[in-house]
Amino acid sequence: MWKNTAENYGLVSKLLHWLSAISVFAMFGVGFWMVDLTYYSPWYQKAPHWHESVGILLLSATLLRLFWRLFSVKPQAIINHSKIERRASSTTHLVLYVLIFTLFISGYLISTADGRAIDIFNWFSVAGLEKLIENQEDLAGLVHEYVAYILITTALLHGVAAVKHHVIDKDRTLARMIKSNK
Ligand code: HEM
Repeated sequence: MWKNTAENYGLVSKLLHWLSAISVFAMFGVGFWMVDLTYYSPWYQKAPHWHESVGILLLSATLLRLFWRLFSVKPQAIINHSKIERRASSTTHLVLYVLIFTLFISGYLISTADGRAIDIFNWFSVAGLEKLIENQEDLAGLVHEYVAYILITTALLHGVAAVKHHVIDKDRTLARMIKSNK
């Protein structure tokens, strides 16, 4: 039930996948909205604080997910998937991981550009580094913005591909990421 098998994703992989998927879309929405907040909005400080806090928690969940993925069985490709589909799917998964880590790193570099730590919901804080490069906040901000658009587009394409497998090909690609395998 908890662990992956050669045919199915276990509960840990499923929970971490859907937690990550929901958070990525929600974080994109919040980030898009909060950059236009004015100083007089009650969310002016609260929204970035939440965005940073959820970002650090999502980083921890993603590290756990990678660890789980590296040390557990990887469900095999579904039999009717062609060679090209198999390659496209594993390349997309790798790209999703690279993009999400680029977002974590650039987000950290924006928030800590002035040397301050990041407070996670006032529970604990993650130390900031000294400024590493000139214009760190602007450069990291630019990377963060563009990579967020690329990640959302890639995640949408990845989601559409999963739905296409379910609706058109009628295979178990999406079902085995959702359904319980007891
Ligand atoms: C639109 C919503 C999404 C749907 C419907 C969806 C669906 C799926 C499905 C069906 C699989 C299993 C593919 C297979 O077995 O070959 C999968 C795997 C995966 N998905 Fe998604 N996904 C969504 C969003 C996301 C997002 C936002 C991310 C990352 C930021 C993501 C990252 C991954 C990764 C890395 C895998 C490989 C397995 C793993 O490492 O856990 N997905 N997804």
